Amino acid sequence: MLLQQATWQEVDEYLTRSKGLIVPIGSTEQHGPMGLIGTDALCPEVIAHRVSADAGILVGPTISVGMAQHHLGFSGSITLRPTTLIAVIKDYVLSLARNGFERFYFLNGHGGNIATIGAAFSEIYAERSLQRGSNQPGIMCKNQNWFTLPSAQRISKEQFGDREGSHATPSEISITQYAYPEAIKSMSEDKADAAPRSFTDAEDYRSLFPDGRIEADSFLASPEVGKEIVDACSKEVIASFNAFLAQD
Ligand code: NI
Repeated sequence: MLLQQATWQEVDEYLTRSKGLIVPIGSTEQHGPMGLIGTDALCPEVIAHRVSADAGILVGPTISVGMAQHHLGFSGSITLRPTTLIAVIKDYVLSLARNGFERFYFLNGHGGNIATIGAAFSEIYAERSLQRGSNQPGIMCKNQNWFTLPSAQRISKEQFGDREGSHATPSEISITQYAYPEAIKSMSEDKADAAPRSFTDAEDYRSLFPDGRIEADSFLASPEVGKEIVDACSKEVIASFNAFLAQD
């Protein structure tokens, strides 16, 4: 069930069966010459929607804009500063907690969000931890990056090896090609340059990686590999979500 396509009565009924939901979270940022700007939000959303269809797990609206300051040198990129993203995550979770949700499983598609998601969870827990006489957080949150799921790592290694890179990767582009075949783009098969050093902020990023990719040979992507990743990752997310719900 997708929250956006449910009624409040259906959500009430779901709450009698489960107190948990999945929240896809990503980013809106350049993904090189052939990657869609929405890639990091679309990938976890596609996997989460499959999970919902296969296992009846509730999926909330995707948080599609994340922490992408270092991509702002490229047109179309949007960022929330860390404090804004923390506030968005906190209000999202506490709104749903008010009516009974207790377990929030974030399925993340953007490495740049990880630190801020962790800080947001601490802020959410602090609401209760700092109350007098309460030492038991009533809400539990978990972050799972789809790209660190064992099956995503296995398929990436088998299909792309060291040409996967770390931004505008053929794996993530494969998922969007599978889900949105009408939006498939092409590019010249230029091998991505090795990263000479880590970057600081937007201008430095663009000067180091002029076409936006980081060590990723995006042109190796295919819808077939995208399907393989979505099929495998959705199964793992169902198991990992159920284990999270069963956790004390
Ligand atoms: Ni990405």
